[in-house]
Amino acid sequence: MSSKPAVLICGGINTFSRAIAEFLVPDVGEPLVSYLRIVDKPSVAPTPSCYVGSKFPTLLETGIVEYKQTNLLNASNVTKVFDPAEGQAPFSIVFDCTGEILYDRKDDFQAVNTASLSYGIGLEAARRKVAAYVRLQQPYYECPAEKTDKPAHTEKDTLKPESVRGTWFHETLRLLAGIKDLNLAILRVGSVYGPHTLCAELTYCLILGAVYKKAEQEFRFLYPANRINTVHTDDVAAASWAVAQWIAKVGREEGNKIAGEDIYFAIDKELVKDLKGEPGPKEKLVAPFFNIVDDADATQGKIAEMVASIYGIKTGTYNLFLGTLAKLSLNDVASEANEQHTHTWHQLIQESDPPVTKGHVSAFMEPHLFGKRAVAYSAAKIKNVLGYTLRRPKITKEAIQEVLDSYKADGIWPNTA
Ligand SMILES: *[C@@H]1O[C@H](CO)[C@@H](O)[C@H](O)[C@H]1NC(C)=O
Ligand SMILES: *[C@@H]1O[C@H](CO)[C@@H](O)[C@H](O)[C@H]1NC(C)=O
Repeated sequence: MSSKPAVLICGGINTFSRAIAEFLVPDVGEPLVSYLRIVDKPSVAPTPSCYVGSKFPTLLETGIVEYKQTNLLNASNVTKVFDPAEGQAPFSIVFDCTGEILYDRKDDFQAVNTASLSYGIGLEAARRKVAAYVRLQQPYYECPAEKTDKPAHTEKDTLKPESVRGTWFHETLRLLAGIKDLNLAILRVGSVYGPHTLCAELTYCLILGAVYKKAEQEFRFLYPANRINTVHTDDVAAASWAVAQWIAKVGREEGNKIAGEDIYFAIDKELVKDLKGEPGPKEKLVAPFFNIVDDADATQGKIAEMVASIYGIKTGTYNLFLGTLAKLSLNDVASEANEQHTHTWHQLIQESDPPVTKGHVSAFMEPHLFGKRAVAYSAAKIKNVLGYTLRRPKITKEAIQEVLDSYKADGIWPNTA
């Protein structure tokens, strides 16, 4: 039998799982896996029910990559997902990219669809004694080190999870950390960008660039000095793999000693009093934990400058606007801006020749995205402990252009923008 591992990726078809799959089974060169199964809720073939990009379907033709449309809320479905494919070794590495990323889902929904869903997969992985279970963690935390004059946050900082979504994503880490014999390691990503990836702040920045160019206006933004620390999907994938290799080698107990962090309690006690797997606020839970971001230490302003230069437009700040901003609610600001953005974006779509055939990109931005936010993490630990080297050390104009080109190639972007 092959010395390469069989790998299972759960969830994340709309976030990172396609990038991980493309890394594990590259266009050029040998695959790193003997077999790869990806499991998620949407259908991807023959007609995908979500955006999967133009590259992913070709992976499914290689013969060693399988996509299974499955509802992972059901325990017997999860068990089946772990059963090896015919003639293949049992899965020894699991990437857990699950979790509901929609911002406005309520506690009840997130408890089931993010926390309990992942916990169910973790339990099954422990039962099957998988060698590595890597949980991909979204950057849903409040980052007080919002400007570059302060050091970015390490894995030791007890950051407050941001809003309902972030609270349940963090709670998920606690549930997984509580599974003692799970070979768990957590990888927290910065603001992810990359070709064929839509769930990114960069996507919005590109939409706005196109919109302001069309409207012949300055590209203005609210918090240019605030950090938006980025990470390319190439590094999300390669770092996930590096973390998996490491935890598979050292195991959880040793992993905790080398890279364990306190997975602190950060949720209202009442919300989890009946939650299966949550031992309560007093229980100290530890799991290996790494951040991954690039070295650019990018800010909202730096990213916007690069996007503006792609579109050949000028940038500016909302000075005048900020005065009135204090008096307006975020919802008011958002609804006014969204009205203008979606109108102009719609015009661009209509004028596109060839026409935009797939309608996955919306210019609508959730109100919280207009708020004062920062993504500020240090990747020093993964470099020091694992010797990880970034593949894409800095976000660049060329890398952003690549993302834009991939959207156009996929038929989801107006050619006029
Ligand atoms: C999984 O569970 C759901 C609900 O319990 C069920 O309807 C579905 O058919 C099952 N199978 C798959 C492959 O999702
Ligand atoms: C889970 O799905 C299976 C089919 O795969 C079904 O028989 C079973 O009733 C479901 N369980 C629950 C709790 O919905």
